[in-house]
Order: sequence, then structure tokens, then C-alpha cells
Amino acid sequence: MKNYLSIKDIDNLPGWVEEAKKLKQNPVTHKNLGAGKTLCLLFFNNSLRTRLSTQKAALNLGMEVMVMNFGNEGWILEYGDGTVMDQGNSEHVKEAAQVVSQYCDIVAIRAFAGLKDKAKDEAEEVLNGFATYASVPVVNMESSVGHPLQALADAITLSEQHPTKRPKIVLSWAPHPKALPHAVANSFVEMMRLQDAEFVITHPKGYELNPSITEGLTIEYDQKKACENADFIYVKNWSSYSDYGKVLHQNPDWMMTQEKLGGAKFMHCLPVRRNVIVADAVLDGAKSLVIEQANNRTFSAQVVLKKLLEQT
Ligand code: CP
Repeated sequence: MKNYLSIKDIDNLPGWVEEAKKLKQNPVTHKNLGAGKTLCLLFFNNSLRTRLSTQKAALNLGMEVMVMNFGNEGWILEYGDGTVMDQGNSEHVKEAAQVVSQYCDIVAIRAFAGLKDKAKDEAEEVLNGFATYASVPVVNMESSVGHPLQALADAITLSEQHPTKRPKIVLSWAPHPKALPHAVANSFVEMMRLQDAEFVITHPKGYELNPSITEGLTIEYDQKKACENADFIYVKNWSSYSDYGKVLHQNPDWMMTQEKLGGAKFMHCLPVRRNVIVADAVLDGAKSLVIEQANNRTFSAQVVLKKLLEQT
């Protein structure tokens, strides 16, 4: 593995999950692996969990960490080939990525979708720009189309619940006042393809995810029907993909409630809007896994960093 850019970079999901669970039992076992090495985190967007859990993972491995909020502290980067840079962009990613590579051993990038231009977002110009020109491994901390550290943490969380039967897992859309990207849902779907589970996606018409990601999977437009007999319900908002980046409606009937949850465990990547995405009673209830999901972000990042360090 040269980089960790998407779920496709996981060669053996059960093996990675077991390794992460071992790291969780004793996080500093490999304290010497990262000694003298530096992780550089570049944030083009806000974060709580990703920023702190990835730092914590690096510290557990003995690495030093540098963090830069590129969005408001760095030069505005240009990504196009052959651009005449006589407008607002001050530095090309070709130089920026090579320069950053001289200061660190692994670089991790967070750069969300702009949700204005589908082709531009799907080109992943920030993540792929760094992956193309960096001379050190690149880690995706949520890009335009994927959040593979979150999906790996979700796989760890699912595994820890020890389902006694092949579980039924539902990915449900929920309302949100703002247009949100598809990255978390996309990576969750990609990760679910590697699980032995009954998997159902539910959302209102118009909120279909990229059909190339959901091809062949079960989509049920009736949320209550989709949630029947579920063992896990993963709730997430995303904006329309076909009417790209638009909030088509905020139908409150799609909020997750105790009634719809039934006996299932509740999952969400956080941050979450209470009583919009999910009712207080669900989030505060015993079936909510959200705090453990956030805890597992450390160990998903740690297993990724460990594997990258082992091959450098
Ligand atoms: N789930 C997640 O990525 O959280 P942050 O946006 O706070 O990093």
C-alpha cells in the first residue's frame, strides 16, 4: 500500500479490523515504530474527531505531528496543468506537495467536496494532486468522495458488537438543513461490500448515491420497511447526487426515532444535529454506538499509519 486513499486500499478488511482491535488493547505496543518520523496533517476543512484521533494515533506510534489549517493559513493552491496563474491562486500543488514531503514522512489531507461541480469533485484534485506529487505516503482524512478512515472505524465498531447471526445493516438518509457531501455514505457502502451482512440502503427518491457505488445493492424507499428487524442502523445525511449538491427537501419524517430503531444499534459518524437527524432519546439511549465509533477512529488511523510506517 503506497497511500491510503480509499477503501480499495484495504487488502484484507477482517485482518485490518483484528489488528486495530489488538492496537486498542495496548495502543503503545509499537511506540518505537514511528520514532524520528513526522506526520503532517493538512486541513482544508473543519474537524474535531479526525484531527484529534489521527494525532493520537500518530503519538501512540511514537511519531511527531505537525498540523496546518490550510484553508485559512496556507496559500491558495492551483491544481490545473498549464494554468496561467495570473488570478487568485498563489502556489501550485506540484511545488506544495514536494515541499511538504521534505518536512514529513506521511502527509494526511482533509478536503471536502465543494458540491458545485460534480466532475471537479470526482476528480479529487486536492487529494489526487498531493498523491501525484508527494514523495511520501498520503492518507485520506475525508476527501470529496470518500472517508475511508471513518468507514474502517465503523468496521471495527461493527466487529466489536459480535453479532450472533449474519446481521442486517441499514444505511438510512436523514434530513439536514445544509447540503452535505456523499463521502461518508460512499465509503460506508464500499466497506459494506466487504462484509458478510444483509445490507439495505434507504433514502427518499432523488437522494440516490452515485449509482456506480451502489450498483447491485438493495435500495428501499420506505424507511420504516427498510429498518424492520435491523441489527444496525447507520444514519447519515447527504445532498442529492443527481441534482448535484442540492437539498431537495428536509422531510422531518426521516429523522431516526426510537420507534424506527426498534431493537437495532444506532450508528452515526458525528457531528450530528440532535432532533433533526436523530431524536435525543436514540442518541442518549443504550443502543447508540456513536461514542465508540469516535473512539475507534484512533485505531483505524493507527492501523493505517502502522502499515505505512512498516513499509517505509
Ligand atoms: N466523523 C468525522 O470525520 O468527524 P470530524 O469531521 O469532526 O473530523
